[in-house]
Amino acid sequence: RKKVTLASLRKLRSEQTPITMMTAYDYPTALLTHSSGIDMTLVGDSLSQVALGHYNTNQITLDEMIHHCKAVARGAKTPFIISDMPFGSFEASVQHGVESAVRLVKEGYVDGVKIEGGREIIPLVKRLTEVGIPVMPHLGLQPQRATSLSGYMVQARSSGAAKELYETAVALQQAGAFALLLEAIPHKVASYITDKLDLLTIGIGAGPGTSGQVLVASDVLGVFPTEEEAEVAATEHGQQLQAVKVAKFVRRFGNVGSESRRAVREYIEAVRSGGFPEIGKETYMIAKEEWDEFE
Ligand code: KIV
Ligand code: NA
Repeated sequence: RKKVTLASLRKLRSEQTPITMMTAYDYPTALLTHSSGIDMTLVGDSLSQVALGHYNTNQITLDEMIHHCKAVARGAKTPFIISDMPFGSFEASVQHGVESAVRLVKEGYVDGVKIEGGREIIPLVKRLTEVGIPVMPHLGLQPQRATSLSGYMVQARSSGAAKELYETAVALQQAGAFALLLEAIPHKVASYITDKLDLLTIGIGAGPGTSGQVLVASDVLGVFPTEEEAEVAATEHGQQLQAVKVAKFVRRFGNVGSESRRAVREYIEAVRSGGFPEIGKETYMIAKEEWDEFE
């Protein structure tokens, strides 16, 4: 398979083949996106919560993002790799934003960057485009603003807010953005933006009318238990699981979490019962004469 490029992504859009994007924060997941033929791999700042256990996305640093980008780049050889610009790495000035994006490309080996924001990021989008870094602004629900918005809520539900979102999208395309990430907005608004603009639109909670879809890998795989699964695990196995709320827009395509928990449970049982390791099968031998001499 060949490396995915901006040209091949644009070709997918023009052929109306939906673009597939999934997050990866480490080498094994990056390999999975690569070997499965995912078009775009996102080192999302969701890794702050999903991979590092932080309370929100704002706690991750640029250095930590770069550390994970490096690992992802080693595994995701063919997908187009995008990194989030973490909170605090671009707001202070265009210069600071350029320096941070250059570090993600130079030290993290990513192909482009995603930046949460609206009109206020236009100068940065322009500058990054001028210096040759592909930019994907992230509109709609912006988790880095969850505190100032008092939570994670669907955006652009009023005619005024939808109009503002559309006009911002137009301005960001003019500034040079190659794609937009649209999160948690009415599907009609996302389809409208996709139809009116030329850039790529990648949606999450934005319906089927965008040029592509993105999901967080742990959601696709079903890594974290739901409240229901946590209750079952508590009654059946006495396990205390950290349950997560699954957003309306998520579809779990697997249940890797329950498989992982089963495997670890059986490992523990096998060790405690003396069933693992098994002599001859999972052990090394020493030749009889060597043993006799030793003993
Ligand atoms: O950080 C992330 O994983 C994201 C996606 C949810 C779009 O921004
Ligand atoms: Na993000």
